[in-house]
Amino acid sequence: MNSILSKVDRTYFIETFGCQQNENDSEILAGHLEQLGYLPCGSPEEADVVLLNTCSVREHADDRFFGHLGRLKTIKQEKPDMFIGVGGCILMQPQNQQKILESFPFVDLIFGTADLGRFPDLFFGAADARKTYLAVGPAEGIERQLPVVRKKAHRALVSIMYGCNNFCTYCIVPHTRGRERSRPKADVMQEIRDAANAGYKEILLLGQNVNAYGKDRNYEDGDFADLLADAARVPGLFVVRFMTSHPKDVSARLIETIGREMTVEPHFHLPLQSGSDAILKKMNRHYTSAQYIAIAEKLRQARPGLTLTTDIIVGFPGETEADFAKTMSLIETVKFDSAFTFIYSPREGTPAAAWDNHIDKPTLNRRYQALTDLQYALSRQSNERLIGQTVKVLITGPSESDASVLSGRTADNRLVLIPLPETSLQADNAETRYTNTVVSAVIRSAGSFSVEGSLVDP
Ligand code: SAH
Ligand code: SF4
Ligand code: F3S
Repeated sequence: MNSILSKVDRTYFIETFGCQQNENDSEILAGHLEQLGYLPCGSPEEADVVLLNTCSVREHADDRFFGHLGRLKTIKQEKPDMFIGVGGCILMQPQNQQKILESFPFVDLIFGTADLGRFPDLFFGAADARKTYLAVGPAEGIERQLPVVRKKAHRALVSIMYGCNNFCTYCIVPHTRGRERSRPKADVMQEIRDAANAGYKEILLLGQNVNAYGKDRNYEDGDFADLLADAARVPGLFVVRFMTSHPKDVSARLIETIGREMTVEPHFHLPLQSGSDAILKKMNRHYTSAQYIAIAEKLRQARPGLTLTTDIIVGFPGETEADFAKTMSLIETVKFDSAFTFIYSPREGTPAAAWDNHIDKPTLNRRYQALTDLQYALSRQSNERLIGQTVKVLITGPSESDASVLSGRTADNRLVLIPLPETSLQADNAETRYTNTVVSAVIRSAGSFSVEGSLVDP
């Protein structure tokens, strides 16, 4: 048996590369390892068990993973007993599994996105084996209650469904996460109540397309609007968030629920991807720019002050200057409060990657620059509207760059930075004392990515 299993004070380190669902999967892996007696540690150098939970959504995410793996090789040469497991979206593709087996034979375990429930068995199986244990199962099934060690003090991530049926032509996710599977509502609600009872003030309901919740179960437990309303009524919560939504599945009931349930975030993340109907069609998105604008208007009517954020891809194959101009003009029309902007990245196995009308790099970069310039200006304008207002902020912890500054989010998901007054700085642990509390702050200044304010009655 590998000596790693008999050592005392064993430690683990998990590196997560992907989206919130990937983060949540890592929290479950941490839950398993802690049940097995492992303690968290701060770096792979100190760890007995290192897990890399990967993301395949863009090439950059792939590159980061293989770069990390190269560095782990050096550590493992000095610590041959260290256990290395790699899992997540990259490993769902057979060519990547082969690459690990051939080029990174020091890896002990390869597991998939739907193997979380059986992780302890795989872990022991791999520790016993003398070579890489390729244990990737199909992206099927739903997880019941699994152990979880939450990474954030203020927020509980709760997966409500797995997989995606949409097959947008650029996207790898349906290939790495399988078809849509909704968790039973009783399981989801139990997890939310447990989190609220444990003191979490924010719940983030997760799925690749949360609006399709319940569809695969013939809505026997209701739909997403029902689930959201029930979640919002769990006592003790500051805000219930959700992501991600698909415009084609935003129902009138959902909009009505957001207008009615004040604990549901006054924020909607609604990926647009492109403002050109021709490109949306080639992307297989099933809505038009006019339909998108109509949903945005309805949401803002239903919940005055709601912030609207989005994802946009520039340089999808075949995107003309006219298509791009339509995206720019739609952004001006809708005036997103913030946006994640991406340069199209070809993903092997997706339809668009095989097309022959890819956009050249200088054009990609030029369009990306124009897009981000426009969005940053709009984000700043949106944040400037808060100046002089007093807002409620859920403190998430000290700011990453300056420990004397508190960082938090408003219910409508704006990042708020609050420099602490000298007097409270002198108090013990002022920064962590505020974490997971809701404070009031008056906003003094605003930028594209955050606003800055001061505590009211600290
Ligand atoms: N299920 C979610 C999240 C998908 S991934 C959704 O549908 O919104 C998050 C974002 O990554 C997508 O919204 C899209 O804007 C972007 N994305 C996905 N595949 C991409 C690719 N191949 N190149 C560039 N951006 C991509
Ligand atoms: Fe990818 Fe589209 Fe599914 Fe989102 S909805 S995960 S972009 S295929
Ligand atoms: Fe990445 Fe997989 Fe999430 S590809 S974005 S980790 S679903």
